[in-house]
Amino acid sequence: MELADFTRALEGQKMFQILADAKELESQGKDIIHLEIGDPDFNTPKNVIQAAKKALDEGHTHYVQSSGLPELKEACRELTWRSRGFRPSNDQILVTSGANIQLYLAIMCSINPGDEVIIPNPSFVSYSSIIKSCRGIPKDVSLLEKDSFRLDPERVKKAINKNTKAIIINSPHNPTGSVLTEWHVRRLFEIAEEFDLVLISDEVYGRMIYSDSSSGFHSPSTYDHCSKRTILVHSLSKTYAMTGWRIGAVTGPSQLISKMSLLYETITSCTAPFVQYAAIEAMLSANSETYEMVSKYQERRDLMVTGLNEIEGINCLTPEGTFYVFANIMELMGSSEEFAKNLLEREYVATCPGIFFGSEGEGYVRFCFANSIENIGIGIRRVKAFAASIKEYQ
Ligand SMILES: Cc1ncc(COP(=O)(O)O)c(C=O)c1O
Repeated sequence: MELADFTRALEGQKMFQILADAKELESQGKDIIHLEIGDPDFNTPKNVIQAAKKALDEGHTHYVQSSGLPELKEACRELTWRSRGFRPSNDQILVTSGANIQLYLAIMCSINPGDEVIIPNPSFVSYSSIIKSCRGIPKDVSLLEKDSFRLDPERVKKAINKNTKAIIINSPHNPTGSVLTEWHVRRLFEIAEEFDLVLISDEVYGRMIYSDSSSGFHSPSTYDHCSKRTILVHSLSKTYAMTGWRIGAVTGPSQLISKMSLLYETITSCTAPFVQYAAIEAMLSANSETYEMVSKYQERRDLMVTGLNEIEGINCLTPEGTFYVFANIMELMGSSEEFAKNLLEREYVATCPGIFFGSEGEGYVRFCFANSIENIGIGIRRVKAFAASIKEYQ
């Protein structure tokens, strides 16, 4: 059987392979410390689970409007107003099963084969995979440690040519935890305006900013209210510890959202209604839980950063957002994949090699601190032993 050409470009999300390897070792009785996948270890808030159960009991188990329930869209409008200062119209919102598919729909509906999409390097693994599967070309712009891994607008401008169609930005940023300042966001928006580009702003970690962040959260959606070029990608996965529920909503120009809705309807008909009722509950009544989780993540971040920086051969910046530390391991090993593989096999600590996020990620390893203080402590001790064993042979 001959497969379609584009399938050769499909990469998926490589960190799921690490999770599979870690689970395999776990099934053999090994005690694994999971610092690989960006999945909150907190439970989904109880009232959210109750809302889903109630919706199931009430029979919300059938097809519904493919672009989302009006009640959930209303909750999105309200939260966008509170967080970003504008109320999008209903036809600017599409409810989806998580943020990943939003990226796919947005890119599929904005580019033609051969068009270029600017992405940060390193960046969330799906970006390049999605662009390639839509027959586009990802155009990398390097993020440098010396710039605190912030996307430099002038580098972005230099990367633009006649084939450029869109820019993806992501703040707070996976995998580095960097947060763009207001100046960066404004400048990136101005550049998108100047070259008439689509600006996809992935804000899935928008609420995950630490109290000592020098930047605070900024979204380009505040400039055009998602009516002209900004596409605001958002889900409940990280904010409310709801990764497995697969729920989110994307906001954008109505003309584009209507096409994205048709594509979504074509692919998957609609989003499960009982999950949408749970999402309404989360968005309107679980915000104190989010604050609590973020303050706990901050404690864990501090433990992780201090612990890693005390290890000879490893150093890292303090992330201002997300639950990732992107640690420089170059002094210990050139290959991040080898580092992560050996760390898992020898010390049973699962992490993500930086190279998975792009060529600029080589020499770094992503440690996710969405785990307990106790497990982070054990993880650090094991990484320390691993680093010492490498040093011994250097
Ligand atoms: C930057 C970024 N965008 C999007 C996603 C996808 O999120 P979702 O679970 O809502 O599909 C992730 C998941 O890790 C992410 O890190």
